[in-house]
Amino acid sequence: EILEILLKGLRRLEYRGYDSAGEGIEFLSCVLWYQQQDIDLDVDFDVHLGIAHTRWATHGVPSPVNSHPQRSDKNNEFIVIHNGIVTNYKDLRKFLESKGYDYESETDTESIAKLVKYMYDNRESDDISFATLVERVTQQLEGAFALVFKSVHYPGEAVGTRRGSPLLIGVRSDHKLSSDHIPVLYRSCKWKISNFLKVIISNLSLYVDEKAVEYYFASDASAVIEHTNQVIFLEDDDVAAVTEGRLSIHRIKRTAGDYPARAIQTLQMELQQIMKGNYSSFMQKEIFEQPESVVNTMRGRVNFDNNTVTLGGLKDHIKEIQRCRRLILIACGTSYHAGVATRQVLEELTELPVMVELASDFLDRNTPVFRDDVCFFISQSGETADSLMALRYCKERGALTVGITNTVGSSISRETDCGVHINAGPEVGVASTKAYTSQFVALIMFALLMCDDRISMQPRRREIIQGLRVLPDLIKEVLSLDDEIQKLATELYQQKSVLIMGRGYHYATCLEGALKIKEITYMHSEGILAGELKHGPLALVDKLMPVIMIIMRDHTYIKCQNALQQVVARQGRPIVICDKDDYETIRNSSRTIKVPHCVDCLQGILSVIPLQLLSFHLAVLRGYDVST
Ligand code: UD1
Ligand code: F6R
Repeated sequence: EILEILLKGLRRLEYRGYDSAGEGIEFLSCVLWYQQQDIDLDVDFDVHLGIAHTRWATHGVPSPVNSHPQRSDKNNEFIVIHNGIVTNYKDLRKFLESKGYDYESETDTESIAKLVKYMYDNRESDDISFATLVERVTQQLEGAFALVFKSVHYPGEAVGTRRGSPLLIGVRSDHKLSSDHIPVLYRSCKWKISNFLKVIISNLSLYVDEKAVEYYFASDASAVIEHTNQVIFLEDDDVAAVTEGRLSIHRIKRTAGDYPARAIQTLQMELQQIMKGNYSSFMQKEIFEQPESVVNTMRGRVNFDNNTVTLGGLKDHIKEIQRCRRLILIACGTSYHAGVATRQVLEELTELPVMVELASDFLDRNTPVFRDDVCFFISQSGETADSLMALRYCKERGALTVGITNTVGSSISRETDCGVHINAGPEVGVASTKAYTSQFVALIMFALLMCDDRISMQPRRREIIQGLRVLPDLIKEVLSLDDEIQKLATELYQQKSVLIMGRGYHYATCLEGALKIKEITYMHSEGILAGELKHGPLALVDKLMPVIMIIMRDHTYIKCQNALQQVVARQGRPIVICDKDDYETIRNSSRTIKVPHCVDCLQGILSVIPLQLLSFHLAVLRGYDVST
């Protein structure tokens, strides 16, 4: 029964994507990895407690030993499951190894399991509670986490905590709960303690009397909703413990404005709605995730205070890369567009020739590749066949290969000499959106790294790094245009074709916008380099042809204005995506989508988002199922 409940819960989380899974139950306190076959499913337990986890690898490849629960030692004294990233795990690991703790996995999570055992081994008294140990552990952790622990030293107890990653507790009882709040216990709040205790005791007695209360810790409600719709959402740094069937919530200290209780809320949502939030499809959800996904790409890598970039995956190879003769970026589809989008800034900051290649064409041409070339393979999945074949082709010719991938443990991630994981989180939607903007950011970080010791480049580097700092907020601002873009879609959706024109940094946006429109709306769309207009494509423009133009205030501004004039002269009435402060363009255009201003080489992230949104709304209006 325990296994079934856990497995079902994991299945409900499948939609978030995972590459491996694990469970730990009160079964001779064993950690159960999937390769373990010899489980007796007929044993009776007094305590029905188990923990389970699906993992999307960020630290170490998907493998049994890297899956969760992670354990403190071979006897599984403490086990833990973890969502999020612990950024100081290397320091913790060094410390714990020096104290004689042996590691077995490549994960950041293992340090948490070891650390809780360290706290236990060094406890000052035997009556220390599990929750206190966990509290001590979290004080040492940096990064984001939701954790659930269990231990042989505390049989039948579970402790959960969070910071930055969600964690909720489902409460199920056949009896009506006598309170809809759980008080918070403060460790260092001596004042009014007697009052508090009264509240606590009156509330908790409910759980003592009624034995049949079940608690479900989960990272999202979809995993528990079939058992209960009564849930408590934990706040950052809450430590929730279930001991002898009773739930208590602890915090180290009370700060001004803290509400000293957590409400038990009744969820009215359907399963589908929980999975996709208020979004109707994964594509839409992932578009709206971009303020967070770009932060995850930069997390632990960009230091905005001293304007430095660290890419752990490239540090052993960066000197060799700096000595190369040429950079070749190879990819397919949207990932190729990420290469097109960042080519100019790569050329500028590396002062190297940069080629951007579609993997299939690169192979068809038997393109010459040399030992002093560095070849990049950009791929969300890390499995695209043409990109993988091109990788093997370049390796055979002795070039250094670098991956820019979203999938740890994927073929491209494994087979490249080195690389950068973009850490955008799983992309479930078929149309790639957040992976594009994260690839974009990853390539920019690489360009910044390449010139970090060039004095003449420092002002430009600072400008770009400060641009990265504000990027998440600017993305949010663009996403707030959603209603306006939806309205625009209602005017366009019955058209046969849309042309998207731009140049410079925004040529990639035109290609990517047109690809999104083709892929999910089945409309014809073409991305046109504005500099090529007079060499043919202008013939398509008339008063009926829908045209979107991208005009930003960078070094191509005047040329883009010329293109606008050419289109208008043929009675075209383009919709212009422009800088919100560009009054001239706004005045001269019948229709504009106004986006915030950003440093020129990052502006392409802001110009593509309106087109992601537009393609999504067009598809919905045209009656296509954007279900993934
Ligand atoms: C690593 C951890 C990350 C942690 C950080 C803290 C992994 C997978 N990443 O990230 O979770 O927060 O240390 O210091 O454990 N690689 C390739 N090809 C690719 C992508 C990556 O060979 O396409 C290689 C890299 O060269 C590196 C390893 O995979 O050796 C991990 O890459 P990445 O996750 O980008 O490294 P860090 O950012 O250092
Ligand atoms: C478009 C799209 C595809 C992929 C392409 C490469 O929305 O998703 O064009 O970008 O198939 O896939 P990856 O990046 O996984 O190599």
